Amino acid sequence: MSTVYLNGKFIPIEDALIPVTDRGFLFGDGVYEVIPAYGGRLFRFSHHLQRLQNSLDGIRLDNPHSDSEWKTILNTVLEHNRELGGANNDQSVYLQVTRGSAAKRDHSFPENVIPTVFATSNAIADPDPVVTEQGVAAITLDDIRWQYCDIKAVTLLANVLLRQQAVDQNAAEAILIRNGLVIEGSSSNVFVIEEGNILTPAKGPQMLPGITRDLVLELAEQHRLPCRETDITEDSLRGADEIWITSSTREIIPVTVLDGKAVGRGSPGPLWKTMIEFYRTYKESVRNGTNE
Ligand code: PDD
Repeated sequence: MSTVYLNGKFIPIEDALIPVTDRGFLFGDGVYEVIPAYGGRLFRFSHHLQRLQNSLDGIRLDNPHSDSEWKTILNTVLEHNRELGGANNDQSVYLQVTRGSAAKRDHSFPENVIPTVFATSNAIADPDPVVTEQGVAAITLDDIRWQYCDIKAVTLLANVLLRQQAVDQNAAEAILIRNGLVIEGSSSNVFVIEEGNILTPAKGPQMLPGITRDLVLELAEQHRLPCRETDITEDSLRGADEIWITSSTREIIPVTVLDGKAVGRGSPGPLWKTMIEFYRTYKESVRNGTNE
């Protein structure tokens, strides 16, 4: 039985209940973060806290906790669930803040309502060897989402429907296209390799600024691999030598089949192999406490 944090208390998950009047439940009125912790150490924690702040600002909700309070809450959850992390103690934390629970259902913000704060942690699986050897399939779909995709909102119905279309076609991800340009995946960011250049769309309200994405760019720069934030057309995606998707829970995954056709040679490419090694080395440095 795992332990979760709910509104000031550390309790068994079975006892963690919220009122049906919670605005997260009624309106999807809340934001969240997913943060890996390797060896019990939160990965890129300050970056996740900054994005949480941006998301809260985006929905005009005060941050209920200081950075050090968040740190204590999340580390306590990780500590309680130590056995979930296995031999390496690798877990991922999920945290959610909603606008709380008001007596009356009304779209506009309620007054004097306390936000609901929830945090839990789960086991993080080691990268699947089949995925790292063969890559995954992805499909392209029209981006049907709203115009504030930089807010990590719990309102994920469009992402859910898009991902399910991918799953229905035995694909691991849906890559979203808007006005002929690649935006991101239904729950990941996208990289394209073109003639040795690592390309990814620039940040903006149309996409979530992924923490993994930023780290990949940082590692590319550090190791002097040519990389650039730029528009990527649907045609460039289809002609790419390599395609990667990135997220906190999936790390960096090579896409080797797009809409049923092979990407490049149809197997994980050489730049992915280089980058995943840099990423794993970075991960180890977080595990042993020399990096954040
Ligand atoms: N999702 N884009 C979208 C729409 C996402 O939902 C995610 C992550 C990302 C990648 O962001 P990061 O590298 O910070 O994880 C991009 C998380 C993992 C989720 O919803 O579970």
